[in-house]
Amino acid sequence: MTDFDPSCDDILREIAGAPSPDALENVRIKVLGRRGSLTVAMRALGGLEPEERRRAGAALNAAKERITAALGEAAARLGRAALEERLRRERADVTLPVPVCGAGRIHPISQTIDEIVAIFGEMGFAVVEGPHIEEDFYNFTALNIPPEHPARQEHDTFYLPTRPDGSRLVLRTHTSPVQIRTMLAQRPPIRIIVPGRTFRCDHDATHSPMFHQVEGLVIDRTTHMGHLKGCLIEFLRAFFALDDLPVRFRPSYFPFTEPSAEVDIGCSRRHGELRIGAGSDWLEILGSGMVHPQVLKNCGIDPSEFQGFAFGMGIERVAMLKYGIPDVRAFYDSDLRWLRYYGFLALDVPSLVRGPLPGGAAA
Ligand code: DAH
Repeated sequence: MTDFDPSCDDILREIAGAPSPDALENVRIKVLGRRGSLTVAMRALGGLEPEERRRAGAALNAAKERITAALGEAAARLGRAALEERLRRERADVTLPVPVCGAGRIHPISQTIDEIVAIFGEMGFAVVEGPHIEEDFYNFTALNIPPEHPARQEHDTFYLPTRPDGSRLVLRTHTSPVQIRTMLAQRPPIRIIVPGRTFRCDHDATHSPMFHQVEGLVIDRTTHMGHLKGCLIEFLRAFFALDDLPVRFRPSYFPFTEPSAEVDIGCSRRHGELRIGAGSDWLEILGSGMVHPQVLKNCGIDPSEFQGFAFGMGIERVAMLKYGIPDVRAFYDSDLRWLRYYGFLALDVPSLVRGPLPGGAAA
């Protein structure tokens, strides 16, 4: 028999007084570890006479139960104390005003994308993205723009070096290839918008070689031109925060839609100043149309069963119009003075619930 004291008063006192989880663990190892005093005493029971073994065994088991219970209680007590200490240390007064982070600003392009996503999100559209480096098939051919089609010239495409098989990858010239990728990957109903970067070899006050578009695509059994019109009118009025914004659909041509329509919004240009809203002038704002049956077929969708509409819009353009930004090149100059003037505070998160943002740059 060892010198383990089955009344275990000292051990219980040590457990009750343990100042930290580490100290408690040390006591546990000292008593219940592989070479702990109680473990050793229990191992020694085997050498005792049966009568003596029964008596000593019962005493040791009772001691083990008390010690285990005391360890559990102490662990809970120390855990509670640690939590209280942490809550005290990390206390935050939620009634304090939010500190205004002075330096950083959200770039107007990011803000505009967030605004567009918030509006279409409310209408049940999902956001989808696609690669910037694209195959000819997705950027052109599947969109009903075959190799010799004149629309290819209009796109001022950036080509990557020819590959051994003679094919060339391109920097996508529009977000439309993501229509194809989505229709090939999922069955209708489809309701997506695709905000993202696009590239064309063009550079002046209204064109940047890298710019942003947002694409929209809706495919279902009964989707028709009325849905296209309602959806885009609703969007444009919410985006420009003008309930009575005049919107006009003008017949147009895109290889991937039939019929196609360009969408104009009402404006006035009095005294050389452009104002969005009622007026006698029109401003072209986006391209749209009913998805061409050939494009549906290219994606394995039966045009006698499904139809839908698509649209594409330049994000810089609508941001310039909404926030009165005169030159597209400034978006990418990283001029801090420009960013402080036209940028947005991090907490200006766009949402339809909160109401539209004022149509001007943040202070
Ligand atoms: N991809 C066209 C462009 O970049 C824009 C566009 C027009 C997209 C009509 C569409 C559409 O989805 O239906 O000029």
